[in-house]
Formats: sequence, C-alpha cells, structure tokens
Amino acid sequence: MISLAPMEGITTYVYRNAINRHFGGIDKFYTPFLTASHLKGRELRDTLPDNNEVDTLIPQVLVNDSDLFITIAKQLEDLGYTEVNLNLGCPSGTVTSKGRGAGFLDHTDQLDRFLDEIFNSSPISISIKTRIGMEFISEWEDIADIYSKYPVKELIIHPRVGKEVYKGSAHTDIYAEMISYLKDKMPETVFTYNGDIISPESLQKIKENIKASGAPIDTENIMIGRGLIADPSLAALIKTGKNPDNFRKRFIAFHDELLTGYEKEMNYEDQVVKKMKELWVYLAKGLSVPDKTLKAILKSDSIVSYRNNFQMVRL
Ligand SMILES: Cc1cc2nc3c(=O)[nH]c(=O)nc-3n(C[C@H](O)[C@H](O)[C@H](O)COP(=O)(O)O)c2cc1C
Repeated sequence: MISLAPMEGITTYVYRNAINRHFGGIDKFYTPFLTASHLKGRELRDTLPDNNEVDTLIPQVLVNDSDLFITIAKQLEDLGYTEVNLNLGCPSGTVTSKGRGAGFLDHTDQLDRFLDEIFNSSPISISIKTRIGMEFISEWEDIADIYSKYPVKELIIHPRVGKEVYKGSAHTDIYAEMISYLKDKMPETVFTYNGDIISPESLQKIKENIKASGAPIDTENIMIGRGLIADPSLAALIKTGKNPDNFRKRFIAFHDELLTGYEKEMNYEDQVVKKMKELWVYLAKGLSVPDKTLKAILKSDSIVSYRNNFQMVRL
C-alpha cells in the first residue's frame, strides 16, 4: 500500500487528481491539514468529494481541542468520509508552540485526555500520523503507551522527533522498536512507515534496516512525500519495477493539468506562478534539472514567462 503524504500547499486536490491520472501507483491520498471549525473556502474545496477524483481520500486535521475535532469530524462525515487523520507530526514552530502537531507530543497527559475524548465521540474512524517525540527520541515509548489504549485505525509513523524537523535521517531503528512494542497491543491497527523514501533503492535500504532492527512485520505500508513530489512516477515505479512508458508525454500532461487547474482555482496570476515554482524546488532534484534551468523557472514573474522557462526543461 502506497500513500501520498499530505503536504501543505503542495498536495492540493488539483495535484492529487493530476498525479493520480497521469502516473498512478498511489493507493491512498490525504488532504493537507485542516484547522478551521467550519469547512469553507480553500479547505472546503480541497475536501469536497466532487473535486476529488481519487478513490481513497482521507482528510487530515491539526487541532488539540476535542470539541473542535468532533465538530470537524461531523462535517467530514456529512461529506461522506469514514475516516479522519489526526496530525501529531507537524514540526513547524508556529504549530508546536501552540501545543499542536508534534508539539502535542510534549504534553502527554493532555494528549491522552484529548484522545480519550475524540475516540469516544468521533462519528468516524480515526487514524494518526505521528512523529516519535518532540525533543528526545526516548519519548517514543510514553507516546506509544498512549496510542495503545485507543482503536487507532492506522498509525503512520515518521521516525524523527519534532525538533529534528527534516534534518539527518529517519530513525528506522526506532520505527522497528515502536512497531515491535505495539503490534500485539494494537492488533487491529495498520502500521505505516513514512520518511526519506526517494527511490526504489532507498526504500529497499529502509526496509532492510527496519528488518535488521527486529521489526516483527515487513514494511508493506509506506507513505511518501518529498520523493513523490520530486518524481511523480515513483509510486508506479515501486509498484511495477519499471518506469512508466512515455514519461515525457505523461509529465507534460501532468504539468498542463496542474497549471490549468491552478489557473482556475486561484484568483491571481502570481499565486499560480508561486505554486508552480514551489513544485520545481522538488522536481528539479527528481528530474535532474540543471541549476541554470531551475534558476530561470524560479525567476518567472508571470505565467507567460513561466511557460517560456518551462520550455527549457529537457525530460
Ligand atoms: C512542505 C511540506 C508540507 C507538509 N505538510 C504536511 C501536512 O499538511 N500534514 C502532515 O501530516 N505532514 C505534512 N508534511 C510532512 C510530510 O507529510 C511527511 O511526513 C514528510 O515530508 C516526511 O516524509 P518524506 O520524507 O517522504 O517527505 C509536510 C512536509 C513538507 C516538506
């Protein structure tokens, strides 16, 4: 099972539909985190089933107030969703300082109370995307003890602590320890690995490391973020063992769909250009785009100049 990681500002419904249509290989999609008590504007459009063409979409929320969580979960239920994902991993300072995302992992008593309330009252199933702690790796066991008390549908673990943000490499050994510890305590829960998968080779290495660290199960369920944004064919490549045919044709169609989708979705040209530039920071790595080309793309200040600079990309 391969999931596309939620990425704020990047994995929008426009992006999810486009990667699914032109590259495929992704089984499950997540919305970037929702925070507002009443779904409206961009968050509503991103969540509306009519805008989403993928088979499996799970909305994600980033809150630390149980009433707010339930208010949002009810709206998601009304839209037809049967699962909501709780973000306990966001490492951004503005989020953690308010005790949300990975910052919530620092307040274990409150977290436990919050989970007790939401698991008791949520009208739909709850999955969790978590880091292994906020400051210290040793926090993982206390956090695991809390999760083990609840019927978590799926536990997606990004094995870094909040303080590490994305530095260094993911602690695959702690992932292995954590699932060894939890597997029998949470027999109904699906465990998913997330972090640093950028190629089939890196996935192989991660799987070997997890196994060597004593994991009781093979790493079948994975979630990929930056690696898929850098190379949108990565999930299909992992699934089939070969690059999809006609990469160039697919990429151009994918890119056109993104550009026209964002032109429709956004009010201002500079917002569209900014959105596309943000993607190229990742794509340049995955597609080995020369620095000169990337620089030109990042200098684009209108859709016309962006389109011209895109012509420089050789696939
Ligand atoms: C720009 C950016 C935005 C992100 N937004 C979210 C988000 O909305 N929700 C979430 O759970 N994780 C978010 N993440 C974390 C990713 O989902 C993922 O856990 C992280 O990138 C590690 O996986 P990777 O190594 O495959 O990229 C974000 C990461 C980045 C770089």
